[in-house]
Amino acid sequence: MKTARRHKITNCAIYPGSFDPITFGHVSVVRRALKIFDRIIVAVAINTSKRHTFSVKERVRMLGQVFQSEGDVEVDSFSGLLVDYVKERGARAILRGIRTMTDFDYEFQMALANKSLEPTVEQVFMMTEGKYLYYSSSIIKEIVSLGGSAREMVPEIVEANLRKKLWKPKRPGPH
Ligand code: COA
Repeated sequence: MKTARRHKITNCAIYPGSFDPITFGHVSVVRRALKIFDRIIVAVAINTSKRHTFSVKERVRMLGQVFQSEGDVEVDSFSGLLVDYVKERGARAILRGIRTMTDFDYEFQMALANKSLEPTVEQVFMMTEGKYLYYSSSIIKEIVSLGGSAREMVPEIVEANLRKKLWKPKRPGPH
């Protein structure tokens, strides 16, 4: 009887985004996706036409800190077309989270564009957990810049960085 040789299959997905900064919503997508994929590459898209609060280097560093104890998560950045990066990394799929119907429309459009650019690339979408439905990086940045707490929305290290970057306590001035 022939015994099939066992190969270690690496079932890897790329999770692309701006991550400016990463929220618990993103963290939840990565952790849940690890039940399906052996490895997740969280990839910061370098997009020079978009204004970001954190530089690519800062975002990559924060992501690395957030996932430092998770050996199956790699953090990287990429420029150019996402489908080219997916092929270059030998990944099986693109992973994205969906919160609302607005996300769905946007994701559907991007998914169709990616598919027409590269028909071999598959795309997997995970519905967000209800408690993360209204989180977005910009809402969180506004809260912190106005002195509010984002403790429930982002990892501690991210909140500390947001505070450092955005929170300017008001100086008592003349009335
Ligand atoms: N939980 C919380 N927030 C979430 C979230 C989740 N699960 N998923 C998305 N968001 C929020 C983000 O915080 C961000 O909020 P903001 O707009 O307030 O900053 C927003 O949703 C969208 O962010 P993101 O997921 O990072 O998407 P993006 O539109 O910035 O990036 C890319 C999309 C990177 C995947 C896309 O631009 C891309 O593929 N770029 C490469 C170039 C390319 O190939 N283009 C052709 C593809 S069509």
